[in-house]
Amino acid sequence: MPIRRDKLKTLYFGSMAAIIICVYLRFWFISALRDGKEVVKDANQTHSTILFSSSMEQKFNIVRYSDIVNVKGLNQSSSFHSISLLSDDKRIYFHETTGRDHLNLRQLCAVESTAKENSNRSVQMFFQSNHVNLTVGPLAHILEKYPNIFVILIDVRDYFNQTPLEDWYLRGAWRQSPYKTEHFSDYIRILSSYKGGGMYMDLDFVALKPFDDNIFWNFVPEEDDSVLTGSSFHFQKDHPIVRKMMTYLASSYHPKEWSYSGPAMFQSVVLKFCQRRAPLPTYPVFLCPDIRVLPKTYLYPYKFAEWKRMFRFSNVSGDDAIFQSYAVHTYNKLSKKEPIFVGSNQLYSKIARLHCPITYAHAFSNLKVNYF
Ligand SMILES: *[C@@H]1O[C@H](CO)[C@@H](O)[C@H](O)[C@H]1NC(C)=O
Ligand SMILES: *[C@@H]1O[C@H](CO)[C@@H](O)[C@H](O)[C@H]1NC(C)=O
Ligand SMILES: *[C@@H]1O[C@H](CO)[C@@H](O)[C@H](O)[C@H]1NC(C)=O
Ligand SMILES: *[C@@H]1O[C@H](CO)[C@@H](O)[C@H](O)[C@H]1NC(C)=O
Ligand SMILES: *[C@@H]1O[C@H](CO)[C@@H](O)[C@H](O)[C@H]1NC(C)=O
Repeated sequence: MPIRRDKLKTLYFGSMAAIIICVYLRFWFISALRDGKEVVKDANQTHSTILFSSSMEQKFNIVRYSDIVNVKGLNQSSSFHSISLLSDDKRIYFHETTGRDHLNLRQLCAVESTAKENSNRSVQMFFQSNHVNLTVGPLAHILEKYPNIFVILIDVRDYFNQTPLEDWYLRGAWRQSPYKTEHFSDYIRILSSYKGGGMYMDLDFVALKPFDDNIFWNFVPEEDDSVLTGSSFHFQKDHPIVRKMMTYLASSYHPKEWSYSGPAMFQSVVLKFCQRRAPLPTYPVFLCPDIRVLPKTYLYPYKFAEWKRMFRFSNVSGDDAIFQSYAVHTYNKLSKKEPIFVGSNQLYSKIARLHCPITYAHAFSNLKVNYF
């Protein structure tokens, strides 16, 4: 008897939850539509000096790198404003490095949550494609809802042109590497930092809180005890460490070593720059006057070895590390095949529902399966 009553209870609360979610989604869609209209106007006012190739691209804040940098003949004030898009210490930027014209839902969740939590900062999504496919998934909806997101379309050849990394790009040993995509990504994230500063993030984070720029400034993160990584970082434009990184990347390349131009580069350049052997365990600290090492509790509440915690169905306790963190890294390389069940009490699903609501609502209502 008690068991059956429990089942009824579960059924009752389950249907109540479903109704609440439906009402919420409906309300949300309506408000998103309304906001969408305001967004267009707002984007027009704020960024009217940025060059867009078409009104469609203007509506969605889609800009071409080549249009921004090849502005010869245009008047000074308009080129100044569009170039400042690419040179902005407060921007937060992501790179899609496979050449696709869209993002998958987990990647969209990274971009959406970051834009949502940092609504007054420019969030830039670089694609290596001459267009983005606005009909795939909720991308168009997200771009409408968050006017602080810019899609920047780059031609890679053009992006590396006349930079210290051009030789590396053209010589092309990296194309034969088993870690081709990873290494390319290692290089281009530093190249963007060199060109215009800002905060870089991999596409497998979910942002949980605004990134306070007193904390997330000229930093490298510690991902595990005394292990630095490049999966997120911030440097101001022209920070001397970025020049060191450019020199390191331009002067040596090991196609067969996965970590050489990534985590190992960060570890080596940062410690050398600061003349330290290893980051100290007393955080938050400035490793040296110009660089801080961000404790892992800020962006990596779960270590590499603990990646499955995001996929657990049990409730997290109130003192869980995730409540202190500004974002959570989901270790896509390990976790990409693990399903996120929409509507479940899985941690990833609950976080996505709150922090990337458009992406989540899309998964909830448009997918033929109940996971993504
Ligand atoms: C945006 O600006 C253009 C040119 O300045 C103008 O023609 C257009 O009506 C504006 N659109 C909106 C929605 O304000
Ligand atoms: C230069 O650009 C600004 C901003 O777009 C505009 O207001 C101004 O009229 C332009 N001047 C000329 C001479 O085209
Ligand atoms: C965004 O807002 C926060 C808090 O109001 C402020 O400290 C920060 O400087 C703002 N950032 C930008 C880019 O305006
Ligand atoms: C965009 O994606 C849709 C759906 O996958 C596809 O049918 C369409 O052909 C794509 N458009 C372009 C321009 O690639
Ligand atoms: C999880 O939390 C909810 C709400 O606080 C509670 O009703 C539920 O019983 C908890 N589930 C587990 C498995 O602890």
